[in-house]
Amino acid sequence: MTTDTLPTLPAGVPVLDIDPFADEVLRDPYAYHARLREAGPVAWIPKYGIYATGRHEQVRQVLNDHENYISSAGVGLANFNKEPPFRPKSLILEADPPNHTRARTVLSRILSPRTVNQIRETFTQEADALFDQLLAASERGEAIDGIKQIAEVYPLKVFPDAVGLEPQGRENLLVYGDMIFNAFGPRNELLARAAEKVQPVTAWIMAHCQRAMLRPGGFGDQIYQAADAGEISQEEAPMLVRSFLSAGVDTTVNGIGNALWCLAQNPEAYARLHADPSLARQAFEESLRLESAVQTFFRTTARTVALAGFDIPADAKVLAVLAAANRDERQWSRPDRYDIDRRPTGHMALGSGIHGCVGQVVARLEGELVLAALAKRFARIELVGEPTRRLNNTLRALGTLPLRLIPA
Ligand code: HEM
Repeated sequence: MTTDTLPTLPAGVPVLDIDPFADEVLRDPYAYHARLREAGPVAWIPKYGIYATGRHEQVRQVLNDHENYISSAGVGLANFNKEPPFRPKSLILEADPPNHTRARTVLSRILSPRTVNQIRETFTQEADALFDQLLAASERGEAIDGIKQIAEVYPLKVFPDAVGLEPQGRENLLVYGDMIFNAFGPRNELLARAAEKVQPVTAWIMAHCQRAMLRPGGFGDQIYQAADAGEISQEEAPMLVRSFLSAGVDTTVNGIGNALWCLAQNPEAYARLHADPSLARQAFEESLRLESAVQTFFRTTARTVALAGFDIPADAKVLAVLAAANRDERQWSRPDRYDIDRRPTGHMALGSGIHGCVGQVVARLEGELVLAALAKRFARIELVGEPTRRLNNTLRALGTLPLRLIPA
């Protein structure tokens, strides 16, 4: 499609001729984010025939107006009103009220702050055990890969344990997550490659959503208990376990990986954290803002909607660029700076409104505990090689992060 053939484009909407899912943009998205914000409160991207917004005010508005900007037509590029979803729709992420409310009530009770208090001790012990091992390795002078040896290992241990999965085969969760988050974008090479790997993994995931595979009392089993109580149907229970398995691992892996990357690049911030490990929670929060693990989500307009004075037509796809909102100079002072003394309240990295991340207490707990365990043991962390990126249509992800941890 070219800019000459845009009959539905409302007058005055700026046009941004860019592919947000091209490799070079995904590798370094910040120049594109700045162009998007500068273009206007909303822009039209001809390559995909979509609207996009990267300013904090409009991203927030879109996410908080679930009646006009719906999720049931998909939160990726595909419009489920026009094409069938590639997998049965999520009962929570890709649903609107009242269906969304039912599923959300169950999951938010299971992942409540009260639950988190119960798992905090185990999650702390696991973080301590991991960093004790890393301390021993670094005393032997070994460098580590911050992604493989911290960011992947920890969430793959604690979260599936809490859900109640057996230890074998958990690496499948990473392959599955990579595909799911690629599938929110276009059918490009990235998705094709992820989809090739996922075939055998999908069968494993679906099998592990069944009650017989889940430890009694874990988060997964608690979903089935809600079905026993009649809050959801028995058929819905495995689908909601699937939501935990799709959304609960690759997100935190990258949230933690990106936090390590921020700290490795900002020795002064790390020194401050080492001096006062109680800043761990804030340091993690600030890295969510600056290097948002989940960069984007789409909505679909339910009717003609006015966004910043422009009438967006019904059934249009709107890309909410969370990561761009998180660096909007209209919202944040010195937005490109990693500042662990900042309280980045109102960032969009965990979404906002009725779909705001239901696992956020768990995500924050994992991030905080990893950074605190690190800060208590190590005086400095140093990059000892060039990190590599794992490109994904939705996630900001590192493939490797070579680090040397210097013991305190
Ligand atoms: C740093 C880690 C995480 C990030 C950055 C993240 C990000 C997000 C974002 C941006 C949304 C909003 C989706 C939308 O508006 O359409 C979301 C929703 C969701 N997240 Fe997370 N998430 C993280 C961790 C987790 C964890 C640990 C879990 C599971 C325990 C989880 C489960 C979910 C679910 C089920 C939803 C859908 C909620 C709904 O539609 O009501 N997430 N997450």
